[in-house]
Amino acid sequence: MSLNTPVILGIETSCDETAAAIVAGPELKSHVAASQIVHQAYGGVVPEYASREHEKLLAPVVENTMSQAHVTWWDIDGIAVTRGPGLAGSLLVGLSYAKGLAVALDKPVLGINHIEGHIFANFIGQEELPTPFLCLLVSGGHTQLIHVKDIQNYRLIGQTRDDAAGEAFDKVARMLGIGYPGGPLIDRLSQDGDPDFIAFPRSRFEGSYDFSFSGLKTAVLYYLQKQSNAFIKSHLADIAASFQQAVVSVLVERALQAAADLNLDRLVLAGGVAANSALRRLVDEQAPAQMTIYQPDLRYCTDNAAMIAYMGFWKYRNSQESELSIPAFPNLKLSFGT
Ligand code: KG4
Ligand code: ZN
Repeated sequence: MSLNTPVILGIETSCDETAAAIVAGPELKSHVAASQIVHQAYGGVVPEYASREHEKLLAPVVENTMSQAHVTWWDIDGIAVTRGPGLAGSLLVGLSYAKGLAVALDKPVLGINHIEGHIFANFIGQEELPTPFLCLLVSGGHTQLIHVKDIQNYRLIGQTRDDAAGEAFDKVARMLGIGYPGGPLIDRLSQDGDPDFIAFPRSRFEGSYDFSFSGLKTAVLYYLQKQSNAFIKSHLADIAASFQQAVVSVLVERALQAAADLNLDRLVLAGGVAANSALRRLVDEQAPAQMTIYQPDLRYCTDNAAMIAYMGFWKYRNSQESELSIPAFPNLKLSFGT
């Protein structure tokens, strides 16, 4: 394939999603994901099971995505793979597979930062990036406001001081006894609820764009402890909607304030919580007219390999191949400048 349209296989195994995708240049050709249902019975991801499932599922998922894209092994120009952050054992399965393939095909490995994948998932298929912009990154592990000056040029504007937004959704769902993963379940349940039913607390820090969700989580817990089971059962949707409203209103308020203060007229949502329907609606409602809002396609909010393959395209284009000895990096962060 030509240098302008390299064919990149993307592999994502950082948590409980076994996923692979093919891009040709920036264009997505196929993507396949196998969600690991084994964890549902445990109410959360069991790391050891996650890596075993990745071992079982990865080869068929890769073959499936290749056949959907009508690509053979010999068409592949590079192998992009998530190197972190994530579960160590899970990351290792993807990395080892990618390295083996790289040696067999004599093609480069492109190690990808999962967080960067989430941010740029908004632009899959695009040759150019509309930088600069403000990114509200909201996932199971992260809640950050990032000034994206350009690809690989980031400044941290604010972040959570305790729980990530997705983590709060998952924990409150557990308190409500509605299952795992909590985010999508609370989102669905809230559609029938009154978001103003309870005024749960919203955190604010003077002179800072930081977030905090642990106080809100505790407020929900205390509220539930004071109510009868019958009351909770009959108002489950109202409680869920009120909690959700408390989270998304703070996210939107702070993101719009930061964008205004930084004179940025583009706001990009990214990460699993960007799939939340109330967040998507509120940001559209409250953004000033001159601001462009980017919300990733629902398929690319939560973990997927399309975003990894797309980042691989950028790395390949910029000749940023990784060493074959590249390690898994469970605590990998974005590197921030000033
Ligand atoms: O980005 P992601 O798939 O994985 C990480 O990199 O963390 O995000 C997963 C998080 C989970 O906490 C999940 O509950 C949350 O995203 N999530 C949602 C929704 N869909 C996923 N939270 C709120 N509303 C949703 N619709
Ligand atoms: Zn993720």
